[in-house]
Order: sequence, then C-alpha cells, then structure tokens
Amino acid sequence: MTANELRTMYVNFFKERGHKEIASASLLPENDPTVLFTTAGMHPLVPYLLGEPHPGGKRLTDVQKCVRTEDIDEVGDDTHCTFFEMLGNWSLGDYFKQESISMSFEFLTEYLHIPLERLAVTVFAGDESMPADVEAEEIWKGLGLKNHQIFRYGRENNWWGPAGQTGPCGPDTEIFYVMDRPECGPNCGPACNCGKYVEIWNNVFMQFNQEADGTFTELKQKNVDTGMGLERVLTILNGKTNVYDTEIFLPMMQTLEDILEKEGKIVPEREKRIICEHTRAVTFMLGDPMKISPSNTEQGYILRRLIRRMIRLFRKADIHTNYLCELSGVVIGQYGPVYPELGENREFILEQLQREYHLFSKTLDEGLKKANRYLDRIEQKGILSGELAFRLYDTFGFPIEFTSELASERGIQVDMDGFRKKFDEHQNKSRQGAAGKFAGGLTTNNEHTARLHTATHLLNGALRKVLGEEVSQRGSNITSERLRFDFSFGRKVTKEELEKVEAIVNEAIQKKIDVILEEMTPEKAYEEGAMGVFSEKYGEIVKVYTIPGYSKEICGGPHAQNTGELVSFKIKKEEASSAGVRRIKAVIQEF
Ligand code: ALA
Repeated sequence: MTANELRTMYVNFFKERGHKEIASASLLPENDPTVLFTTAGMHPLVPYLLGEPHPGGKRLTDVQKCVRTEDIDEVGDDTHCTFFEMLGNWSLGDYFKQESISMSFEFLTEYLHIPLERLAVTVFAGDESMPADVEAEEIWKGLGLKNHQIFRYGRENNWWGPAGQTGPCGPDTEIFYVMDRPECGPNCGPACNCGKYVEIWNNVFMQFNQEADGTFTELKQKNVDTGMGLERVLTILNGKTNVYDTEIFLPMMQTLEDILEKEGKIVPEREKRIICEHTRAVTFMLGDPMKISPSNTEQGYILRRLIRRMIRLFRKADIHTNYLCELSGVVIGQYGPVYPELGENREFILEQLQREYHLFSKTLDEGLKKANRYLDRIEQKGILSGELAFRLYDTFGFPIEFTSELASERGIQVDMDGFRKKFDEHQNKSRQGAAGKFAGGLTTNNEHTARLHTATHLLNGALRKVLGEEVSQRGSNITSERLRFDFSFGRKVTKEELEKVEAIVNEAIQKKIDVILEEMTPEKAYEEGAMGVFSEKYGEIVKVYTIPGYSKEICGGPHAQNTGELVSFKIKKEEASSAGVRRIKAVIQEF
C-alpha cells in the first residue's frame, strides 16, 4: 500500500461514516503559546473540543502534519520521527467509546487486513482520582481480543494531553501492532521500547480540561480524539521493519547513497537516517504557510538545530558540498501533490537552506577545531564546562544539543546546568541592554536592531493608512530576530489588510528613502503631526524621525539611515494581545 492510498482509504472510511474532511493546519499552533509546534491532529481543534461548534459538524477527519521535538534523540531508530503525518478522526460531543473503538477495529482488521492476533491494546488502569476504564476494556473483549492482548497501564501511559500546559485531555486506549520478533524479557509489553510492540493508533476519550492551576474540569461535551501514525502503519502494511524502508524515505535514502558514492564517502546507517528524517522535517517547517525560518529562538531555533546537525554529519564524513537542497528537492517533489505549500514555497525553502549552510559553514570548521581542543583538554575529566559550551554557542553558533552530541561521541558529558546559567546571565545582560535602550533612548550599535526599529515606524504608519486613525501604538519590543508591535484596534486584522500593510512597508523600502532626523520641542513635533507615545515624558528637546510620505515619530532612535537597508519586510503573525489591542510580529531580511 502506498502512503497516498493509506491517506485516501482512511479519510474515505471516516467520510462514509459521517465525518467531514478538514484541511491540515499549519505546523505553528495558532492558539497555544505554550508549545512550539502542532504536535497532534487535535491541536488545531482545541476550541471545538472545548465546545465551540465546528463549521464541519460533530464528526471530523483529516491528515495533519505534526512535529514532535521530544523525539529528536530517538531519530535514527526504526520508528521515531520528528515530523510525521497523523491520520485522525474526531467526535465533538457525538459518538463515544463504543463507536470509536469499533470503527478503529473495523478499519484495522477489515480494511487494512491486520490479523486480530497481531493487535494488542492498552487501557487506563485508574488511579486515586480516576476510575479504571473498564468500559473500553469490555468493548475490546467484545470485539474478540483475548486477555493476553489487553494491558492496563496508569496515567504515564494511558492518559493523553493536554497538548500544551492547558487544554482537553482524558484516558486513552492505545493500539499496537505486535512485530514478528522475540519479546525482550518476561515483562515485555506495549510500554517497553524494545520494538516488539509498535504503537499505531491512539483513541483518546476527552472528558476533561486541564486548567492552568493543574486542576481538571469536566468538559461540556464528551469528545473522541484519535491519531494514527501514517509512517508506522505504512511500515507494517508493507512488511518492513523500519520507516526508512518505505516509499516515504526510500527516494531520499537513494539520493543520499548516490551522493555518497559520488563523493566516495561512508556515513553510518543511523546518521544517514538522521539526515533523511531531518531533511523532511526542515522542508516542511520552511515550506509551512507560516514560513518558519532559522533563528535563535523558538521554532526557528529547532529548525536551525536540525539543519546544523545535518551539516555537521556531512562534515564529519569529510563532505564539503551543500547537498541539503538536493535532498530537500526530493521531499518537495514527493510531497508536493499532497502538500502544495511545499511547491509554492520551493524557492524560499532552498534559499533558506543555502543561506543557513553558508552562515554555519563559516564558523563550523573553526568551531569544531576549538571544540576538539576543549574536548582533548578535558577528556580525562569527562565533563565539558558550561562556560566552554556557552562559548561554542555564542561564538560559533553551536546549538547546545549539538555540542552535547559532539562530546558524547567521545564519552564526555556537558555541564548542562552550567551552560544554562551562563546562557541566562547572557540573556539578562541583553535584556538589560534592551531595557536601557528603550527607557532612555540610548543608541545601540546593533545595525539590525536599528533597522527593525525603522521597520516598526513604517509598520505603524502603514497600519494607520490601512486601518485608520484608530490605530495607536501600545507597545513595542525588538529582539535581534524580529519586531513586535502592539496597537489599539478593535478586531482581527484581515489577511487582505495585512497584505496591504506589508506592501506599503515594502514599497517604502524599495524606494530607498533617507530617514531624516531632526531635533525640536515636543510642541513643535506635535504641531508637525509627529506620532509619539503619549504616556511617555519627553524632555525639552525631542528627536523626530521622518520617513517622508510614510512616517513621522518622536523617538530616541537609533534608526537605519535609509529604508533600503531593510531589504524586505514580512509580517509573521497577527494576534490579540489584550482587549482592544492587537499584536503583530514581523521580520526584515538582509539578503
Ligand atoms: N492526540 C492523540 C495523540 O496524539 C490522538 O496520541
């Protein structure tokens, strides 16, 4: 069976049973600031699981792209992926355990033809606060599963969610495929990781919402949330033992083999797998409609870490050419028909991979030399200090996990606590720097920050042009990566409006306008129509920055000299900040 046949068969099965097919959402969760990526099909559905009516009705199905960063270290084994596709079906206050389990069973045994004896399931054993899920167990028995196929586990195994720190959750029943290999010991079962039991589907019975204080409240409706791992099911159905032997990874593995043959180099099997798995993940991140790009924070950091790990694995094999684009091209070609965003963002994906390669190549060799020197020095001790690890991060752009991998290859550990301490100290220093800058209007040497500051003025002006005078600044924050701008406005800004705003800012950038700085009294500035944060106290003389035709603001600066320095401007996110206040995050690019 091919991946596409499986996607279609799954979705059709549930459509025939009254489910509405919905589209795969972005990899960036929109309503959950507590997690970086969409980790499950239910994630974009949280408001509906909490009781909001879904326009598609009470029965939904889809194929959702997901990223789970907690599995990064497992990647390279037979089944764990950072990126994967989750086939899912939901009941929003409609059917519950009986129907859910019966449908799963029917699909597995009658459509996928998995023999009953190859299945094993787990059910919630109950604990001091929740009873055992006897109902689920009885349903499985009624479908023909024998006692030895049913396992009871506690909360650590059979309670799912919430996806972030709060949200819907509940007891689940997990379905496993029993592989044709020996058990690892007398206690072997679905909870162990030996590879005998492969989890393929999870049916969660969501009855609770976990609140911020950790307590549970009963949901208005009883929901079912299920998720089946496409890659794993494909592996099993095709009689393979690992996901890399399926059509998902074979073309990429083959391309990699060809590259290695051409280069005359050898890479261990596990590292080849890591390269292919990460290539697919980063292609989907870069190609997401939200266009995640490498950076030092949040999603961008994970992306950077995956790309840099691949670059290092190539370098380890003494390969000095960038093959990331070639490998990513395989993913785009293969998945393009199912995920059109990959084709649409092809240029962006390849450009970013190229850019990150060049950026990191510059410091990688020198950094590796330095790292090896450190590691030689402390080999006997077996511990790399947090300070040295931080130096590798700060000077050579080595993600900490990357340093930790380098060290562990030589049996050395990294003092993670020490690293974190150094890192926090550094963050605090930069924060103090930023606070000082905004409080006192002191100059900073960072040109990129100055450009983001100019972009903020252009954004403020463009918002007023598109949305009207109602817009006034409520807050602004700039990091080395992005600008954040809060402003008063009573509703969500539409996509079209955001596009207009973006276009105005880019127009000003393309016109390469000189940014004019003048000094005058605050009264004169207001007379001339300069914008200012009115709650702020100004001195007798203020600085006014003017970008003729686009913006005039009282501001301490510093700013770019000319708008052309910003190169381009992109809004990454628009969201509510508080009642009547919207928040925009945006970036500029320097290439
Ligand atoms: N949300 C459930 C999971 O991810 C289905 O396992």
